[in-house]
Amino acid sequence: MIANDIDLEKFSKYSRPGPRYTSYPTALEFSDKFKYENYIKYLQEGKEPLSIYIHLPFCRSACYFCGCNVVFTSKEEKLSRYVEYLKKEIDILANHLDTNREVIQFHFGGGTPTFYKAYELDEIMSYLKKHFKNWSDEAEISVEIDPRFFNEEQMKVFKKHGFNRISFGVQDFDENVQKEIHRIQPFELTKAAVDLARRYGIESINTDLIYGLPYQTLESFSNTLKLAKSLDPDRLAVFNYAHVPWLKKTMRKFDETTIPSPDIKLAILKHTIEYLTSNGYKMIGMDHFAKPQDELFTAIHKGELHRNFQGYTTKGGANLIGIGLTSIGEGERYYAQNTKDMNSYEEAIDSGKLPFERGIELNDDDIIRKSVIMELMANFTVDIKATEKKFNINFNKYFADALNSLKEFEDAGLLKISDDRISVEPTGTLLIRNIAMPFDAYMNKYTGSKKSFSKTV
Ligand SMILES: C[S@@+](CC[C@H](N)C(=O)[O-])C[C@H]1O[C@@H](n2cnc3c(N)ncnc32)[C@H](O)[C@@H]1O
Ligand code: SF4
Repeated sequence: MIANDIDLEKFSKYSRPGPRYTSYPTALEFSDKFKYENYIKYLQEGKEPLSIYIHLPFCRSACYFCGCNVVFTSKEEKLSRYVEYLKKEIDILANHLDTNREVIQFHFGGGTPTFYKAYELDEIMSYLKKHFKNWSDEAEISVEIDPRFFNEEQMKVFKKHGFNRISFGVQDFDENVQKEIHRIQPFELTKAAVDLARRYGIESINTDLIYGLPYQTLESFSNTLKLAKSLDPDRLAVFNYAHVPWLKKTMRKFDETTIPSPDIKLAILKHTIEYLTSNGYKMIGMDHFAKPQDELFTAIHKGELHRNFQGYTTKGGANLIGIGLTSIGEGERYYAQNTKDMNSYEEAIDSGKLPFERGIELNDDDIIRKSVIMELMANFTVDIKATEKKFNINFNKYFADALNSLKEFEDAGLLKISDDRISVEPTGTLLIRNIAMPFDAYMNKYTGSKKSFSKTV
C-alpha cells in the first residue's frame, strides 16, 4: 500500500485495455442518421451556456509519441489560410446560434496553438469576441502551449483576452528520452515559459508528463518528476503513454524493445503517486494531480466535477461548440464532429456550411448511461437514489448486467455498492475507465477488437 491508500498490485491485476479518452458513448458510435440539419437544429435551439473549443492543428515537426490530431507543416501560408477559414467558420456558426448565450469556457487546443504568431492569435480571439460578446467574468479561458514555441508577444495576447489557465506540454526531461521521442526541450526552456506565464499573472498552470515512453526508467522519471515539481505547477497531468502504432505512423519509429515493461511502468506510477502526494498534491482519477486548494477538489466534494474532452472541469452543463479541423462538439443530446480532411473542411466552408462530418443523437437510454458514466468518471461515485429519481428508473433492474459485471471489482475491494450509492475506492479510481465500461451500451461491440484500445498499464 502506498500514499492515498492506493494498492498498485491490485490495480495491475484488474486493469484491462481501454480507450484513452472516456466520454459517452466510450467508443463513439457516429451514425449516418445524424445529418447536418440535425446539428444545425441543436445549435439553433440550444439555450445552455457555451464552452467553445478551437482546434489549431499545426505543428512544425512530429513528436513520435503524439496521438493528437495534427497537421505537420513549415509553410506560413498554410497557417494564415487556416485563420481565414476559421473566421468564415465563426461567421457561419454565428448565423446558426444565439450569440448572446454566455461563454463560460474557452479552449485553444492543438496541434500547437503557439505555432501561430501573436497577431494571428489576437486576430482569432478578437474575431470570436466580435460575434460572441457575452463572456462570463468567471469564464475558464485556457490554451495548450508547447514551451518550444512560446514568446512574450503571444503571452501579451493571452493576457489581453483574459486567459487564466495554461497547460504546458513537457512529457519528459531526460535527454535520452527526448532524443528518442524527437522532442528536444531543455528544462531551462520550460522553466522560462512557466516563469513568463507567472509574470503575467496566470493563476493556473498545468504541466503534462507521459510515462511509458522509450528509454524511461524509474530513475530517469523520478528525476523528471523532481524537475517538474520544482516548477511548482498547480496541476500535473501524468498520462499513461497510449501506444497505438496501427493508428499513428510516427509511433512506428520507436524500437518497441526500448518501451518500459509493464513492471517498470507500474513502478514509475507507484513512485509518481508517492512522490507527488507527499509533496503537496492530491490525485484525481487515473492521471491528474492538483494542489488540495484547487477548485477541482471543492467540486468533487460537492459532486460537481465534470469530465469533457479536455479533461476534468468544474464547468458542467455547457454546450461544447467545436470549431476547426476535427473538433468535437457536445450537447446534452448529441455529439458532432468536424471533418478531419483539410480539403473537405475548406470546401464545406466555401459553400457556406459548417465543416460538420458526422454526429450522433443520444436516445433516452444513452442519456441515462452518459449521466452515470460521467458521475463515475468525475466524482467516483453514483448516487443511486438521485439517478432513480432523475430518470424514473429502478437502478438495480435497469443496470442489472452492469452491476453484475462490477461484482468482480467489488469483491476485489475496488468499490462498494450499497442501496444508495456506488463508491469507488482510491485504487479503483485508477481503474475508473474499466469500472465505467459496463455501463456503456456500445462497449461490448468493441471489446472483441483489442486493436481499438491502448493498454491500461
Ligand atoms: C495536443 S498535445 C499538447 C500541446 C502541445 N502541442 C505540446 O506538445 O506541448 C496534449 C497532450 O497530450 C498528451 N499526449 C499526446 N500523445 C499522447 C499519447 N500517445 N499518450 C499519452 N499522452 C499523449 C501529451 O502529454 C500532450 O502534452
Ligand atoms: S505533442 Fe504537441 S507538438 Fe508534438 S506533435 Fe503532438 S501536438 Fe505537435
